[in-house]
Amino acid sequence: MNSDNCIIVIFGASGDLTKRKLVPAVYDLKKRGHLPDRFAILGIGRTEYSEESFREKLQADMEMEGDEANSSFFQDIYYQSLNTSSPDDYVKLKDKLTGLDKQLGTEGNYIFYLATPPRLYSLIPGFLSEQGLNSEERGWKRLIVEKPFGTDLQSARELNREILKYFNESQLYRIDHYLGKETVQNILVTRFGNGFFEPLWNRNFIDHVEITAAESLGVEKRGGYYDSSGALKDMVQNHLLQLTAMVAMEPPASFESDAIRNETLKVFQSLKPLNRDELDNCFIRGQYTASTIKGEKVKGYREEEGVDPESRTETFTALKFYIENWRWGGVPFYIRTGKRLPTRVSEIVIHFKSTPHKLFKKAFGTQDNFNKLIIRIQPDEGILLKFGMKMPGAGFDVKEANMSFRYSELSSVEMASAYERLLLDCMHGDSTLYARGDAVEACWEFIQPLLDYENSDDPPKIYGYPAGSWGPDCADDLIEGEGVTWRYPC
Ligand code: BG6
Repeated sequence: MNSDNCIIVIFGASGDLTKRKLVPAVYDLKKRGHLPDRFAILGIGRTEYSEESFREKLQADMEMEGDEANSSFFQDIYYQSLNTSSPDDYVKLKDKLTGLDKQLGTEGNYIFYLATPPRLYSLIPGFLSEQGLNSEERGWKRLIVEKPFGTDLQSARELNREILKYFNESQLYRIDHYLGKETVQNILVTRFGNGFFEPLWNRNFIDHVEITAAESLGVEKRGGYYDSSGALKDMVQNHLLQLTAMVAMEPPASFESDAIRNETLKVFQSLKPLNRDELDNCFIRGQYTASTIKGEKVKGYREEEGVDPESRTETFTALKFYIENWRWGGVPFYIRTGKRLPTRVSEIVIHFKSTPHKLFKKAFGTQDNFNKLIIRIQPDEGILLKFGMKMPGAGFDVKEANMSFRYSELSSVEMASAYERLLLDCMHGDSTLYARGDAVEACWEFIQPLLDYENSDDPPKIYGYPAGSWGPDCADDLIEGEGVTWRYPC
């Protein structure tokens, strides 16, 4: 599908996201021939750059030299410095866009990408509207909002209300980059494109579901942001609940954006509310402490730059919850995420129920290692089915066997990054892989009791765990109490 001619206006153009993700994603879109003939990026930031120096900065950020740096891609990048919190400055933006639009023939189609500090998310849409830059009288206007979308239920509701005064829901694209990952989208194809998974995909055959998003890095240079967020808001409220929806949703009636988003919303609405009196048994918080990993000393979280030395922010969290509907009634979902864990891996493990009668007792002890489907989101993207096979020879010794599919074997085409896919979808006006306002609020609604508990006079404990370990021991108890264990991928 060809995209309409358009300009992407990036607010926060001198920031980290622009250089690490957004501009490289557009560069790759150009390389693959996905950009329209008439196209430009307009960077907006406070810093004073000339157009030439902004291009040079991006080339240096992206470590490009020679032919790559001279490619026509960089000629399509423009810059306008302005104070994003000053309404008067938006006249400059309007003039710049009108000029570029005339010069390039982009037909008044604009994507506004908010990659600024979150406090500006509620201001910029109003300022754009004052200049008529939300009007679709000539050309379409779309607004992409980065995460975090709110910091709790109330602020998310307010933010939705505020933005919706100026842009319609159909113009709004709330980004959750996990939904842009190929392997996350493949969950839908695995489930709904094959006849054999779906009949088993319910409480009758599934014992429990485990979702892990582990990172080996610490908070790096983002201590200031992270300390006011923590793992629950940074990863669970958005990415991990979106993964849960992909695993748990009902088949949509069609592949239309709203058909899919209605089904994901139903999952969020069916999450069993977590009551305060049960939270101590199903909600674990941890914080990494200094340690030595592969001979190298690693700082504890409280020693990281920008972090309060007495911080109680969690860098690890594990949660057990239920989805109250006919498909999932009684099936526990376990999720965990953390920084400074032994490895970087995101995966979903579907644990099928054991056989009703353990015929091959020697192999099927108390801890049943087979009957698992592992959906590997990253790295080493793919799907692994673990089952029992008879060992050759006398008797009936059963051994674990694997059926493994690696995404890299499917095609020689390099997988598009999440941002590449999501930007292209937005250019096509397809919001399927963006979060809808009601879904974002439903996720916050589920998380809110946990936030209230954290902010109460008697907050939950925060357990230290040495950097490089799998989190506090009590996270193991969360699941082990039930006769099963987490998977510890390497
Ligand atoms: C971001 C979080 O949304 O996702 C980061 O703010 C986290 O803290 C990142 O590191 C993880 O994304 P990915 O794609 O590397 O799994």
